[in-house]
Amino acid sequence: MEPLSIGIIGTGWCGGIRAVASANSALVGALHLAEVNSERLAEVAEQTGAVTATADWELLVDDPGIDALMISATPETLHYPMAKAALDAGKHVLLEKPISITLDEADDLIRIAESKGLKFTVGYSQRFNAKQALVKRSINDGTLGDPVSVLVSRHITRSLGAKIGSRTKLSPAAMGATHDIDFSLWCLDPRKPLRVYSQVAWGARQDQGVPDTQVIVITMDDGVTVTIGAGWSLPPGYPNFSTTWIEFLGTEGALIMDASHKDIVLNTIKDGVQFPLSTMPGEYVDHVYAGPMERETIHFLEAVAYDRPVMVDPRLARLTMEVYIAADLSAETGQVVELPMGVDESQPSLLSAITG
Ligand SMILES: NC(=O)c1ccc[n+]([C@@H]2O[C@H](COP(=O)([O-])OP(=O)(O)OC[C@H]3O[C@@H](n4cnc5c(N)ncnc54)[C@H](O)[C@@H]3O)[C@@H](O)[C@H]2O)c1
Repeated sequence: MEPLSIGIIGTGWCGGIRAVASANSALVGALHLAEVNSERLAEVAEQTGAVTATADWELLVDDPGIDALMISATPETLHYPMAKAALDAGKHVLLEKPISITLDEADDLIRIAESKGLKFTVGYSQRFNAKQALVKRSINDGTLGDPVSVLVSRHITRSLGAKIGSRTKLSPAAMGATHDIDFSLWCLDPRKPLRVYSQVAWGARQDQGVPDTQVIVITMDDGVTVTIGAGWSLPPGYPNFSTTWIEFLGTEGALIMDASHKDIVLNTIKDGVQFPLSTMPGEYVDHVYAGPMERETIHFLEAVAYDRPVMVDPRLARLTMEVYIAADLSAETGQVVELPMGVDESQPSLLSAITG
C-alpha cells in the first residue's frame, strides 16, 4: 500500500486532534494543513511535521496528490461548500458534523460521493466511545432483547456553548443532541423515526439568544421511544467539560451508563476541582489518547487505505439532521412533527426555532 497523502482543513480544536492522529499513523506519508489562523497553523504544523501549511484551503482541494481531506473548519456554513469542492475534486472526505445546513445540501454531497465512489463520512465521534459501542453490541447480539426505550442526557459548559453559539446560530438539538440522535438511530437501525416533539427552556444564556436546554422525544416506527436532553449552560469547570447519562431499556435487559466523567478528580489551589479527560472528542495524555476522536480518525484513514466501509453512513447523518430540524420546528410551534419531512421551500429554518 502507498502511504496516504492527507489534508486537514481547519486545525482548531478538532482539526488539531485529527492532524496529530494522522501524523502519528503509519498509514500517512504526507500531511497537508489549511488554516486561516496563522498562529494556530504554525503550532499544528510544527507539532505534526506537515509538508504543506497554507491559509488557502482550495490549494489542498486542487492538489491531485492528496487522497483524502478532513474538514474541521468553522463556522458550520463552510461545511457544505468545502465538502462539495473536495468531493468534486475526487477526494475522500471526513466532514465534522453537521453534514450541512440544509437537507438538500446533504443530498447533494451524498449524491456526488456515491456517483464518484468516494468514502464520505461525518464526524459522529461518540460511536467510537466504548460505552456507546457496548450498547450497540448488546442490541445486535440480543443481550437486551427488543429495544423498548432510550434516554440520553448530555450537558456541556456555557463557555463551550458560547464558543459554538458565537459562530453559527444553531440550536442545542443541532449542535449537542445531534450526537445522541445519531447514536440512538444507529443503535435502533433499521427502525425509522416517525414523530418528533421538542421543547426548549430559557435560562442563563437567554441574553445570547439561545435556550439553555432542549428536550426531544422521538417515536420510532415500532413504538420505541427516544428521549434526549441537551444543554450547554453548565457553569465553567474543566475546559470543555461534558457529561452524559444513558439508559437503554430492552425486553430482556437494560444498560445504564454513567459517562459523567466524575471518576477522576483533580483539585488544585489555582483552579479548584477539575474533571480531566472529560471532553467530548477526548484528549491526548502524552502517548495515550483518552476519548473517541483519535480512533475515529484512524478508522477513516483505514477505510481509505484498505477500501473498507465507513462507520457513519452519510445517509444516517442526513436522517439525524432531519430529526433535529423537526425538533426545532416542534419547539417553535409546540406541535408534534411527523417524519419524513421532505425537502421543499417550506422546510423550516434551523435558525428560527432559537431566535424567534
Ligand atoms: N465530534 C466531536 O466531538 C466534536 C466536538 C467539537 C466540535 N465538533 C465539530 O467540529 C467542527 C470544528 O469545531 P472546533 O471546536 O474544532 O472549532 P474551532 O473553532 O476550534 O476550529 C475551527 C478552525 O477552522 C478555522 N477556519 C475557519 N475558516 C477557515 C478557512 N476558510 N480555511 C481554513 N480554516 C478555517 C478556524 O480558524 C479554526 O481554527 C465544528 O463544526 C463542530 O461542529 C465536533
